[in-house]
Amino acid sequence: MVYPRFAATAAAPLLIASLSVSCALAQKAEKPLPPPVTAAQLKAAALPTHDETWWKHAVVYEIYPRSFQDSNGDGIGDLNGMTQRLDYLQKLGVDAMWIAPMFPSPQVDFGYDISDYEAVDPQYGTMADFDRLVAAAQGKGVKVMLDMVLNHTSDKHKWFTESAASRSNSKADWYVWNDGVPVDKAGVTDYQRKFAHDGMAPPNNWESLFGGSAWEWVPARKQFYYHKFYKQQPDLNWRNPAVETAMFNMMKFWLDKGVAGFRLDAVPVLFEDTQLRNEDTVVASFDAQHNALTNAQGDPILNDNRTNMLPEVHDVLRRMRTMMDSYPGNRVLVGETYLPNTAELNKWYGGTVLSKTAELHLPMDFLVGFHTEGGGPNSPNVSLDLKHLRTYLGEMETTLGDNWPLLVFDNHDNVRSWDRFSRPDQSDVQKQAIAKIIATMLYTTRATALTYYGAELGMPTTTPSRVEDVQDPIGKTGWPKEKGRDGERTPMQWTAGPQAGFSTDPKTWLPVPADYKTINVQTEQADPNSMLNWSEKLIALRRSNPALHDGGFAMLNTSDPNILSYVRTAPTGSTPVLTLMNMTAQPQTISLDMKPVDAKMTKATTLASSDPSVSGTQMLNSITLPAYASWVGSLQ
Ligand code: NOJ
Repeated sequence: MVYPRFAATAAAPLLIASLSVSCALAQKAEKPLPPPVTAAQLKAAALPTHDETWWKHAVVYEIYPRSFQDSNGDGIGDLNGMTQRLDYLQKLGVDAMWIAPMFPSPQVDFGYDISDYEAVDPQYGTMADFDRLVAAAQGKGVKVMLDMVLNHTSDKHKWFTESAASRSNSKADWYVWNDGVPVDKAGVTDYQRKFAHDGMAPPNNWESLFGGSAWEWVPARKQFYYHKFYKQQPDLNWRNPAVETAMFNMMKFWLDKGVAGFRLDAVPVLFEDTQLRNEDTVVASFDAQHNALTNAQGDPILNDNRTNMLPEVHDVLRRMRTMMDSYPGNRVLVGETYLPNTAELNKWYGGTVLSKTAELHLPMDFLVGFHTEGGGPNSPNVSLDLKHLRTYLGEMETTLGDNWPLLVFDNHDNVRSWDRFSRPDQSDVQKQAIAKIIATMLYTTRATALTYYGAELGMPTTTPSRVEDVQDPIGKTGWPKEKGRDGERTPMQWTAGPQAGFSTDPKTWLPVPADYKTINVQTEQADPNSMLNWSEKLIALRRSNPALHDGGFAMLNTSDPNILSYVRTAPTGSTPVLTLMNMTAQPQTISLDMKPVDAKMTKATTLASSDPSVSGTQMLNSITLPAYASWVGSLQ
């Protein structure tokens, strides 16, 4: 699994490494772009779908529960806070909210360490609050989706405490246990020895994505257990059928309550190699003097072939899909799938042709929005890369066969797109225009749109400046190379008043960023050119305009080095829609070649323009867009 936050190179996209391992790593060869798509694929993509399945047209809004709205004045967001803000979500045009984990949890990984899968963490409210939220949301046309953490539980979950107590209890085989190897056995490395207990070293070199060995010793069993993430997040043993049954039952508990679907956390890492073979060290992890480089947590840089994307996970997903599809109402399975290319992405749907082998409805396409060219997605020198965006948007729209794409640019694990797609030396005006480009791609392509609270406002990342302020454990252990994920989890900015309207408690769990006086819902609602109004306008168009709602997709002027342009073809009786985005800091003029859509059209009427100088009717043989402008028009 590659969280872009941890990805170092594009040449070896599956390795987990620090962002700042070395400049040498950042200066790697540019990732070769995939071959062009075929004419048949292009033709198929250009057809409207005529499919009203709700999630195919949806805007899904991720809520990080601690950070959205505090209703009881304790400085931490909660479920009743979400209920209070439903009008806002409805006005924005959101179809579904995905709530990051709100189950009981020791909060080591802020909810991704679950200690009870069928309850609500008291700091977020009660089950009655949850039921009220689902009912109230339904009344406003907003569905509720939950986050399902299937790979691991909290070490405080009763399954784990029982499992860890002895080798002979009813849960003894629910987690991944191993005796380890004698420290003096041939082949045991110094790194393994660092984690030895009672003369036994971990069985192999596997590392936790969050630092240190992936194996933790338990004296009561005289064994190690495996954890891909924090040691407080032991991996479940998915080779034990009882684990699958328990997890499916827990999912049914929530489906029976009316949740519309799940986002499956870390799903590619459900299984590990049964032979426990070592991960390979990657070649790029040595510097010019052949010294081994380490990642931000001080660990060797390894591949993850033995613990990521094992084929067995697909059998589980097929059974899960059958279970989901047995519920009425098109419940949806979304996957957290960081994958190296579109061919791999297709596998998580179960292949390009929908059949009995269907798996996830919507594995996330991270290829468009989290690209690693230029030294890693979180490095300051990645800006808008037209070649990359055109290629991967094109692939997403044309090579998934019967499958439906899910586009995403922001989440709670990565620096916000506001900062990833702009450069620190750019002005706020430029940064906002770039953020509008991101929103334009998100809402005017065919894909289901997944957004993250605050992106609609243009909330930047606010990374802590002192280690003592850091909340996210990886930011404490990795400081200063890895400062953690607090920066993208700061409180939602509602007003210019105290605590940005997030909480009445002056001590919010993360500080409210200083920019809240200007970047907030209230102020932006009053400004017709704000990021918020841009997001709202595009979402409204996506709902009301037949071509944007349901049209096919065709890329135009594919050799233009400055402007990204595409058409959403029209369902019968409506007109196609053209989208243009100037990816450069200078004005650019384009003459559109309409051949790919066979259209005889010569002009277009503005539907949305990020710059008032491009308005009214535009002639297709010469449209000039100011720097970083986005424009959407109806073809005539
Ligand atoms: C992915 C989640 O998005 C991240 O926040 C979490 O730390 C890991 N999975 C482990 O559950």
